[in-house]
Amino acid sequence: MPDSPPASLPPQWKDLVAASRDARSQAYAPYSEFAVGAAVLTKAGSIFPGCNVENASYGLTICAERTAVCAAIAAGRQDIVAVCISLTGTPVPCGTCRQFLYEFNPSMTVLIDDLSTDNDAAPETVLLSDLLPRGFRLER
Ligand code: THU
Repeated sequence: MPDSPPASLPPQWKDLVAASRDARSQAYAPYSEFAVGAAVLTKAGSIFPGCNVENASYGLTICAERTAVCAAIAAGRQDIVAVCISLTGTPVPCGTCRQFLYEFNPSMTVLIDDLSTDNDAAPETVLLSDLLPRGFRLER
């Protein structure tokens, strides 16, 4: 499995993709055997990785994206500007994760790093607001 991101990305995104690919190797997915890595990038340039964490009680499974977001929040960083998700195949993120990400920045960039295609190709980038139009938010 490759662990170096495509050369053509901006440096911060390159680091984000590398962290996401690296996190995928930590996935705990004994039931689905479907490893997912993720990493979030904050406005200040910090990167927080995450992987999927499954459970014998299947419904308790936590997706990689949510693990990464929780790591950022636990470190006191809520200013998420981008998320990368590394896996084989699309589409991602799942509906639950779209809403979970939406909480912190509806217009964050989502990098979809599909490792089943050309690993040196730049990941597909899409705005979260396009993946989840009219997501749910409470004004504070
Ligand atoms: N999974 C993620 O980690 N992120 C997604 O966006 C889609 C699904 C995980 C959950 C589960 O461990 C495995 O992929 C199979 O559904």
